Parts: sequence; C-alpha cells; structure tokens
Amino acid sequence: MSKVILLNGSPHRHGCTATALDEMIGVFEAEGIETEVIQVGTKDIRGCISCERCSQAGKCVFDDLVNEVAPKFEAADGLVVGSPVYYGSPNGTILSFMDRLFYSTSFSKHMKVGAAVVSCRRGGNTASFDVLNKYFTISGMPVASSTYWNQVHGFSAEDVKKDLEGLQTMRNLARNMSFMIKAIADAKEKYGYPMVERSSFTSFPDGK
Ligand SMILES: Cc1cc2nc3c(=O)[nH]c(=O)nc-3n(C[C@H](O)[C@H](O)[C@H](O)COP(=O)(O)O)c2cc1C
Repeated sequence: MSKVILLNGSPHRHGCTATALDEMIGVFEAEGIETEVIQVGTKDIRGCISCERCSQAGKCVFDDLVNEVAPKFEAADGLVVGSPVYYGSPNGTILSFMDRLFYSTSFSKHMKVGAAVVSCRRGGNTASFDVLNKYFTISGMPVASSTYWNQVHGFSAEDVKKDLEGLQTMRNLARNMSFMIKAIADAKEKYGYPMVERSSFTSFPDGK
C-alpha cells in the first residue's frame, strides 16, 4: 500500500493547517493511500548547525523528531509539508525541521511526490509556498499541484472551513498526488527510474 507522510508545522494540532491537511487525508483514504500525520510545530526543533556529522553518521547529530521521521520518509511514497505563514514565510519550526531532515539524510528522495500546503490569515502564502517547494525541487521529487496554489485562509479552523475554494484546492491536490503516486509506481515497473548523475559538485569557481 502506498503511503503519504503529512507534516504539520503549526503549533496548533487542530488549527488552520491541520484543517487543510485533514481535507487531503479524506481523499487519500478514498484513494486507498495510507497516511500518517506528524506534528512538528508542537516540538522543540533546533536549526541545522552545519557540523556535517550527518555525512558520516547518516543521521542528524541532534537525535530528535528529525531522526524519527527520516526512516518514515524513506519508506513513504509522498510527503506533504504544511505550515502556517509567519511574517511572510513558513514558520521557523518547520524550516528548521525541513533543513535538517533533507540535509541529514542520504537516501534517495527521487520520485517521491511532494506537496506544500500553507495557511495564512491574510498575506504571505505564495512566498511561503515557494520556499517549501524548494526542498522537493532540489531532491528529484515531482511536485503535485492543484487548481490554485496550495493555500487556505484563516485565523482559526472555523475560518478555514468557510474557505470553500481553499478546501477544494486541497481535495484536488490530494487527487492529483494520489494519481502521481500510482502512475509513478506503474512507470517504475515499466521503465525504471531515470538515471541520476552526481559526479559534478561545483561551487561557482572563478571560471578558469
Ligand atoms: C508569529 C506569527 C506571525 C504571523 N504572520 C502572518 C503573516 O505574515 N501573514 C498572515 O496572513 N498571517 C500571519 N499569521 C497568522 C497565521 O499565519 C494564520 O492565522 C494561520 O492560518 C494559522 O495557522 P495554524 O492554525 O495552522 O497555526 C501569523 C501568526 C503568528 C503567530
């Protein structure tokens, strides 16, 4: 059975972001896709210190939720990251979590389907959405999209329940993501995954 992990970056377990993720979960269940929600925003997650210890250890030097989620992410077919907007960006906790999760793990994320979901009261959704999609697009992860950018609006879960287009966007997103996961599994059988080259690693040398 295919599985999608949903990260809730909000400190509110049942807030706006959770309401958006719940709308997706209803579709995943109907599509026969297993789900697991991981509450990130309620945890004390520190940022990456660039110690590079993960390159030897294969896990983060800070042994917290990041290292717990890593094997779940490795086994999953898709990852949804949800965040409230704080000052026009994803919230600090989810950014620290995503930096460390993606940097400390060496397993291939290639062809796992990614989707970012953001919630704001009024502004900053699209900038936050762009930031979260960058984790996927540097990792060979196809990004699922919808009928609008993946956002809901509200200050409370009740507000989001009135954002009918936002909820529709979440359902369409989950349908598209389900389709992509199934199609990629079929295509893997038929064609195998595309080759990935990794031999070059250049840091803007002086051009000589
Ligand atoms: C520190 C902080 C900063 C915020 N910054 C913004 C913002 O820039 N734009 C906005 O529209 N809402 C902002 N909000 C409101 C939340 O993003 C919004 O209510 C969100 O939908 C809450 O989601 P949640 O219930 O999942 O936590 C901010 C809230 C907090 C606590």
